[in-house]
Amino acid sequence: MTERLTLTRPDDWHLHLRDGAPMADVLPYTARQFARAIVMPNLKPPVTTVAQAAAYRQRILAARPPDSDFEPLMTLYLTDNTTADEIRRAKESGFVHGVKLYPAGATTNSDAGVTDLARCARALEAMQDVDLPLQVHGEVTRAEVDVFDREARFIDDVLEPLRRDFPALRVVFEHITTRQAADYVRDAPGPIGATITAHHLLYNRNALFLTPHGRAGVRPHYYCLPVLKREPHRQALVAAATSGNPRFFLGTDSAPHPKGEKESACGCAGCFTAASALEMYATVFEAAGALDKLEAFASFHGADFYRLPRNRGTVTLAREPWTLPSELAFGDTAVVPLAAGETLPWKIVA
Ligand code: NCD
Ligand code: ZN
Repeated sequence: MTERLTLTRPDDWHLHLRDGAPMADVLPYTARQFARAIVMPNLKPPVTTVAQAAAYRQRILAARPPDSDFEPLMTLYLTDNTTADEIRRAKESGFVHGVKLYPAGATTNSDAGVTDLARCARALEAMQDVDLPLQVHGEVTRAEVDVFDREARFIDDVLEPLRRDFPALRVVFEHITTRQAADYVRDAPGPIGATITAHHLLYNRNALFLTPHGRAGVRPHYYCLPVLKREPHRQALVAAATSGNPRFFLGTDSAPHPKGEKESACGCAGCFTAASALEMYATVFEAAGALDKLEAFASFHGADFYRLPRNRGTVTLAREPWTLPSELAFGDTAVVPLAAGETLPWKIVA
């Protein structure tokens, strides 16, 4: 049995860091294991301009632990009003690495999102032209579409037409959760990649309603968007992540929320995994008999897709079981990590 695992330092290609004191609390968990992260722009208000992204980037850099060389890779939040000029400024900045499409109302802080992609034609054209990737939250939001079907419907209704109209646009299908999305990304022509979270690899939708011991109850810390799906979808994601196909790469979608906003009559969407992410991925890859595929998924494929250099340096995991804490500091409140109280077999040791 493998007892130690040394990988090229990985990156997180989809991360929510928030802002202010909560950010200062969660950032060190990411900086400890990942060299870089694509930082999502869904602050309140959202990061829609290069000037806002520059200021946010400075706040992240200032919040890094001493001696950390963690590099935030910034994104803009696409709105109906994003101009082609803003896209060109983003490309020229050198620190904006993509533009995020949130369909309006799809998820946490998405009220300013896109109401109709037709309104974004000029911005998308400019992105294709300057080769700035589009990162998509791939769910339709129409009330009549079942929550569990929203990702699959997005492929036919939005993604295919979008990619037909902009065939050279590089697209990242973020946090895929279904067999349909994994198949689409594997087989579709043109430049496309997908991030896969640790939680969608570890859990199916039963985790929303049952403890690991089978006790029933609503478990808000397992609620994220896109929501966890049935077991065959989880298996398709594991197959994609461990396939060695360079279109699939690591993106935690770690999304911390104050404990009280999750444990609520209308608990918000988002799972906090930054404090245990790489250990969770190692657990899944080992269960699939594919530990040898972890390094490329975590450290190579995303960098290659974003045309950034692969990292130097390494991170080492050891077989050293540890139990996740019940909560962690988060500004003036607490955040409950996903899988709190559960034990992981792998631990980062260096
Ligand atoms: C994210 C958040 O909390 O910002 N929540 C989530 O469930 N993933 C937003 C997002 O990426 O959808
Ligand atoms: Zn996200």
